[in-house]
Amino acid sequence: MAEPIRVVVTGAAGQIAYSLLYMIARGEVFGKDQPIVLHLLDIPPMVGVLEGVVMELADCALPLLVEVVPTTDPAVGFKDVSAAFLVGAMPRKEGMERKDLLSANVKIFRTQGQALDKFAKKDVKVLVVGNPANTNALVCSSYAPSIPRENFSAMTRLDQNRATSQIAAKLGVPISAVKNIIIWGNHSSTQYPDAGQGKVTANGTVKSVVDAINDNGYLQGSFVETVQKRGAAVIAARKMSSAMSAAKAACDHMHDWWNGTAPGQFVSMGVFSDGSYESPKDVIFSFPVEIKNKQWKIVSGLTLSDFAKTKLSVTGKELQEEKDEALSVLDSNVSNL
Ligand code: NAD
Ligand code: LMR
Repeated sequence: MAEPIRVVVTGAAGQIAYSLLYMIARGEVFGKDQPIVLHLLDIPPMVGVLEGVVMELADCALPLLVEVVPTTDPAVGFKDVSAAFLVGAMPRKEGMERKDLLSANVKIFRTQGQALDKFAKKDVKVLVVGNPANTNALVCSSYAPSIPRENFSAMTRLDQNRATSQIAAKLGVPISAVKNIIIWGNHSSTQYPDAGQGKVTANGTVKSVVDAINDNGYLQGSFVETVQKRGAAVIAARKMSSAMSAAKAACDHMHDWWNGTAPGQFVSMGVFSDGSYESPKDVIFSFPVEIKNKQWKIVSGLTLSDFAKTKLSVTGKELQEEKDEALSVLDSNVSNL
């Protein structure tokens, strides 16, 4: 058996964590041979709930879970962690946009960036789930200058999973038959779900999704809108934001970061933009990436339609605006934000 690794989940008493902790502790992210010490970080009013979660984790009798560390102290929560799932933040309610959470949530990510900087391993992989995820990840990284900025990411995998599921249903094929659907930009209603590079395998042949669907009206219309508005649709139905699917997506994201992607396969992650595809630089922008040796690389050389270019420009502009707003909320003179 390998040495245990320490993994922190913030918002550990919340609804996403309730599904996520179990999946991590079962070995679905870091592997079935990787023992884990789980750090559960939440805030003092949630200590009672956290105790219940600790009891349930014990009662699951999971062989890979060697220790659970519940805490409300970021110094303990982030100590020596190799992976961090930053979930803890306020969720939006019906009628809100995710960026309406910015002033409430961005300060959490300043504190957690500072704690990561001081206490985490320098090669820690950080996944920000709490909304607005892209801008929170940017803030978090900016307050953790001793950790490479490539180690910070925001979750758009839920959007990718939603988009892949829509395409598979439209074509009447299993999910596993559809690959390389991309989410560009912000995890918000301006994101651009793009089936333009997608591939579908049916009866042993690989075809482009665009050819297989053969309906641009759908691919540029209701497909895009359904994915953009899926989070709001779940809130309208459940009166709470998505949790099971968010936890699954967080596992998928970290799993692929940790273990790599298959040749020719790419996945979407919010990562620091280098200006690829005319996106604004130095915001956390969702790109298609390939992953090897725990390092992601933006897929280069894809041909984008004029429609796609317009969509990328809209979502990039929103990210730039969110960044400016975050700066004003934090009243920040952090030079690298
Ligand atoms: P929730 O309210 O059920 O749980 C959030 C938990 O975070 C609570 O237990 C709360 O006490 C805790 N928390 C608050 N401040 C904290 C802090 N400073 N440190 C540690 N813990 C803290 O919410 P949820 O449904 O689990 O959602 C969490 C976040 O994830 C929300 O912001 C939601 O919008 C976001 N989300 C993102 C995606 C995505 O695709 N990126 C998907 C779903 C939800
Ligand atoms: C989602 O996409 O389901 C989450 O970001 C929650 C939300 O506010 O939509």
